Amino acid sequence: EKGGYDYFMLKEIAEQPKAVADTLLGRIDASGSLTLDEVRIAPEVLREVDKVVIVACGTAFHAGLIAKYAIEHWTRVPCEVELASEFRYRDPILDQQTLVIAISQSGETMDTLMALRHAREQGAKVLAICNTNGSTIPRESDAVLYTHAGPEVAVASTKAFLTQLVACYLVALYLGQVRGTKWGDEIRAVIRDLAQISGEVEQVLETMEPVRELARSLAGKNTVLFLGRHVGYPVALEGALKLKELAYMHAEGFAAGELKHGPIALIEEDLPVVVVVPSPRGRSVLHDKIVSNIQEIRARGARTIVIAEEGDEVVEPYADHLIRIPVTPVLLQPLVATVPLQVFACELATARGNEVDQPRNLAKSVTVE
Ligand code: M6R
Repeated sequence: EKGGYDYFMLKEIAEQPKAVADTLLGRIDASGSLTLDEVRIAPEVLREVDKVVIVACGTAFHAGLIAKYAIEHWTRVPCEVELASEFRYRDPILDQQTLVIAISQSGETMDTLMALRHAREQGAKVLAICNTNGSTIPRESDAVLYTHAGPEVAVASTKAFLTQLVACYLVALYLGQVRGTKWGDEIRAVIRDLAQISGEVEQVLETMEPVRELARSLAGKNTVLFLGRHVGYPVALEGALKLKELAYMHAEGFAAGELKHGPIALIEEDLPVVVVVPSPRGRSVLHDKIVSNIQEIRARGARTIVIAEEGDEVVEPYADHLIRIPVTPVLLQPLVATVPLQVFACELATARGNEVDQPRNLAKSVTVE
């Protein structure tokens, strides 16, 4: 059942290239356009959308945070992302022109279900991004875009997350395509890159041995911090969540720009800090800023674990440990940057003697509010 792996989580991490490819399958046509016919919301309705609201929990929420960057950039439609458990309790502003996207692997998460029911009662259209055919969330939505990750058994979400990202990018690009934005050329180029991305995920998986070694060496630590900027910020949050749930360690993700507003006080001698470095191409200002952050925390004794694009030489002198990821378009980087963090958490959990597939106190799908 585990296909020769010790844990479902290891198997599911390894299945990610296929899960990503399967989620793209049949959705990009020969001319390089998206065909999301299954999204039964008519293009006219999508053209009228004036706000996107994403609701989700846990890892799916992190996918939503990343989707916001893509949706706002490619469609210029404002996008909010909210924890499903908070959503309906604050009387959110919704109407017929709001597109609500509910992201859920299981399709049974009660918090997300209650949020989408609330949204529909207010007249909003709901699109589900879901991995489980025929589950409650897609059944109660106006439309669904299925992720094709296959069954995810381990409590910690891995391949579902990567496919949720793919689905979010598809929705963002599709909205851009349908509505027509000034980013038409970029959208076409990104669709081409997305079609290749599973090869890059595979490439990351092939280079994970040093990450495992590093994780084992940190098994005695109590705290690990994660920093990121732009789409790397939700990746940092996801890295921290994986470590909490699997290794039972104190782990926190921060937006690197916030360091100076408080968290830098946490930095002490030999504290492991994982930094997700934005591409030096594209938004290079952010790259410079995060390099300064790495220098600052290193000067205060932190052990820096740097995840950076191949060819990014600037970070080398400041990285105690350097994890390389392939070059991707800026917005797609989470698809490759998250993988080392999954491997890191899984290996740390094993080294600490924890039950990887079934962490304490957690259930795979949370069907109570
Ligand atoms: O099935 P869902 O995607 O709705 O589940 C949402 C969260 O409960 C889930 O992502 C949880 O945070 C994972 N255990 C994280 O690894």
